[in-house]
Amino acid sequence: VTAEKAGFDHFMLKEIYEQPKAYRDTMGSRIASDGNSVTLNELTITPEAIRKISRVHIVACGTAYHAGMVGKYVIEKMARIPVETDVASEYRYRSPIITKDTLVIVVSQSGETADTLAALREAKRCGAHVLAITNVVGSSVAREANDIITTWAGPEIAVASTKAYTSQLIAFYLLGLHLAQTLGTQTAGQITEVITALKELPTQVEEILGQAEALKVVAEEMAKHDNLFFIGRGLDYAVALEGSLKLKEISYIHSEAYPAGELKHGTLALIEDGIPVIALATQHDLLEKTVSNIKEVKARGANVLGIAVEGELELQKSVDSTFVIPKTLDVLSSALAVIPLQLLSYYASLARGNDVDKPRNLAKSVTVE
Ligand code: AGP
Repeated sequence: VTAEKAGFDHFMLKEIYEQPKAYRDTMGSRIASDGNSVTLNELTITPEAIRKISRVHIVACGTAYHAGMVGKYVIEKMARIPVETDVASEYRYRSPIITKDTLVIVVSQSGETADTLAALREAKRCGAHVLAITNVVGSSVAREANDIITTWAGPEIAVASTKAYTSQLIAFYLLGLHLAQTLGTQTAGQITEVITALKELPTQVEEILGQAEALKVVAEEMAKHDNLFFIGRGLDYAVALEGSLKLKEISYIHSEAYPAGELKHGTLALIEDGIPVIALATQHDLLEKTVSNIKEVKARGANVLGIAVEGELELQKSVDSTFVIPKTLDVLSSALAVIPLQLLSYYASLARGNDVDKPRNLAKSVTVE
């Protein structure tokens, strides 16, 4: 077993450290050698069919759903197609409007999640084109979808998903670029800019992993609390949800993720002296607004850890401590911002003496509806 973990104490930690490789492998030959375009040769959907897409539905569960929330933002920004996201166990029951011009994207690490599979079947029954993003070649989802983008994260053993999630983000960035190239919604210069930044991500993840010790200290302090909050706006809210889920499932600490601007509409009542708040602030256009939300919680006694992009000194002044991530394009920031949150959850779980790889009540693959 030690050998399988390659010297790491847990599969989760090993998988966190495998992320730079998972990013590189998922990008692989899908990026042209001149760095100016993306080729998803595996897709059968034609450019004509892409031009006819009137809406996109992204359907998944848990962490894969959180990747889908990032996917919505990426596709809408890059390809200007309206996107809705649904939790798979809800999708079928709300009579969603699915036509043959709907692209339904299902996201599943295992490719065996019963709720996701049921949503896929419903989408196909209604005539949609179904594209699966999955980590398991030959899985049920992969077999039944019309198109597949495989994430090359390698087997994920820990119940808490890490490298599968971030590889799903890479798949969405590639898909967003592919749609944009086909639809002409981004200039050649914009596409090259995103690809250049994309290629830097693996090295930037390595830089973050090099600071794991600092996060261990923060996590040990966090582990003494029973409640905490994650806040963020836009893409940072999607990452906040994922950070909160990760923490809940392995540390059993209750946490809530909130859009930073929504706190004042009720949840702010829960902020009390000493409560830890993790504030994600990677989106430049939203920075000023996020800082004012940080001030709201600080004024009520919260102890705020900011997740900030390097050079953002204004933000650093408004929080109690900061974890700095390397600079990238705002649209790609989730692939970096989530890494410290994974490490915080891991170390908080350890500090509480939990079984990191096999948290109570949970299974790796959920094959019941
Ligand atoms: C992730 O940490 C969770 N264990 C869980 O939310 C998981 O992402 C969800 O069950 C979906 O699994 P899938 O990607 O295999 O479909």
